[in-house]
Amino acid sequence: MTTQANYDILVIGSGAAGLTLALHLASRFRVALLSKQRLRDGSTWFAQGGIAAVLDNADSIESHIADTLDAGAGLCHPDAVRQTVENSAATIQWLIEQGVDFDREDSGYHLTKEGGHSHRRIVHSADATGRAVHSSLLERVREAENIHCFEHHIALDLVRQPDPSRGRFRCAGVYVLDRHSEQVELFQGRAVVLATGGASKAYLYTSNPDGASGDGIAMAWRAGCRVANMEFNQFHPTCLYHPEAKALLVTEALRGEGARLKLPDGSRFMHRFDDRGELAPRDIVARAIDHEMKRLGADCLYLDISHQDADFVRNRFPTVYNNCRQYGIDITSEPIPVVPAAHYTCGGVVVDRHGRTDLDQLYAVGETTFTGLHGANRLASNSLLECLVYARAAAMDIEATLDGVAPPRTAPAWDASRVTDSDEDVVISHNWDELRRFMWDYVGIVRTRKRLLRAEHRVRMLQGEIREFYANYKITSDLIELRNLALVSELIIRSALERRESRGLHYSLDYPELRELAMDTVLVPENFANQRQFV
Ligand code: FAD
Ligand code: SIN
Repeated sequence: MTTQANYDILVIGSGAAGLTLALHLASRFRVALLSKQRLRDGSTWFAQGGIAAVLDNADSIESHIADTLDAGAGLCHPDAVRQTVENSAATIQWLIEQGVDFDREDSGYHLTKEGGHSHRRIVHSADATGRAVHSSLLERVREAENIHCFEHHIALDLVRQPDPSRGRFRCAGVYVLDRHSEQVELFQGRAVVLATGGASKAYLYTSNPDGASGDGIAMAWRAGCRVANMEFNQFHPTCLYHPEAKALLVTEALRGEGARLKLPDGSRFMHRFDDRGELAPRDIVARAIDHEMKRLGADCLYLDISHQDADFVRNRFPTVYNNCRQYGIDITSEPIPVVPAAHYTCGGVVVDRHGRTDLDQLYAVGETTFTGLHGANRLASNSLLECLVYARAAAMDIEATLDGVAPPRTAPAWDASRVTDSDEDVVISHNWDELRRFMWDYVGIVRTRKRLLRAEHRVRMLQGEIREFYANYKITSDLIELRNLALVSELIIRSALERRESRGLHYSLDYPELRELAMDTVLVPENFANQRQFV
């Protein structure tokens, strides 16, 4: 039997974006906060470097804007960049009021530097900024009486209803699998917010924790929303290379504090690729590493901070120090073996400056979105900032409009009567592995049309199998994520095929030039929601 729950607002995802939005609305509305894992899981907890903000008198909003536009390789939307950067100082102040403890020095907050930034402007909490932000926000959420948390609840599809009063479709709720009871429940609300994070699990090697399977992007697409710029998947240049290490980032702030990238023979190479050397934007550094690894047939390159004072390194980078120590590497005395890995989804669900999607009453915030901020390559430490700024903007829009929104009609219960238990779960895990491997091999840092077509063929075959599974067997969270990852991979491949140039994170050997006209890749679903359907 399907249970049903009604709230004012449903927030799907408990990362920086979801928590911030819920907190801004909790004084006036009943909020359900859903997370497919524990509340603390997701990328936010693992963020290392920090949050970019204009806090220093020697810095300026115009300079942060210029760096963001430059990193974005001509594709950032200037209005989105300005909205984000102009709100950066107020956002940091709000975090401090929520209890976040950023590192200080005598003159104020300590600011570090990262690639592509022309000033020191990254506020941080050692190299565990995500943990500091997330744990404070989680404490505030747990204190808020109006926020009802549902852990281990995985949203599987949105409910879309015609709204005759407006002659358009609206979002009316979401079907959710309770992973403990294994029942599908119906949650309904007057507004639904996707805050489900990115899709970097589409790749075999990634800095992201489990769960980054692009669920929000896939759900929004199926509900008729446009997605944009999915070809721009960011690869972080430096993840720890060790046979037993899974997804361990080595923060870019190391390079901000002087760490040098080196070849296996100990020589530096970044200045051959960009005058900014190790502090060039991420797309350039990742591509340079990839190029040198292929040229030398090397399994990894090296990041070396051992020339700095050992106490400084241990105190400033305790996370990286301890992570590497676990694998027998002492970063105070030896270089760190590193490789690039999938890190961040620059594209996503198209939203306006209030976080509104194409489907009425459906909002999206955080990494799952395309706001126009990042263009063809995200500037380091602009992501948490975007989560926080847009979550507040969406909350303000919901607060201003929700009183005039009627509750949705009760949606049909989930029909699980035709499905049986699967006796072939191994097929799901094999499909996961296959998908992530061919995405890595064919849709990685350097692309060709032939490889993309090969990947397109493979993903369509996989989708056929997944459809059959989905229709006939009981739903599991692995199947939900695989179905979403396959769809998101298809969207990445389609977008990459559409872009016939090399720009930012998308580099094609067949189209190495940059086109004069910078254009977003916007994909429109067949059931596009933003049309007048019922007039
Ligand atoms: P997340 O924090 O990923 O949260 C997603 C939430 O959605 C989770 O609660 C998850 O359980 C839930 N969810 C997903 N799907 C479903 C579903 N179907 N049903 C229910 N719940 C669902 N950015 C910076 O700006 N600075 C940094 O220093 C930085 N460092 C990083 C380091 C690492 C290792 C990584 C991986 C990323 C880093 N980033 C950094 C990027 C940044 O952390 C993320 O972009 C940001 O945290 C995303 O926040 P979010 O709220 O959008 O999503
Ligand atoms: C890092 O600390 O290197 C990650 C920063 C980011 O992804 O913005």
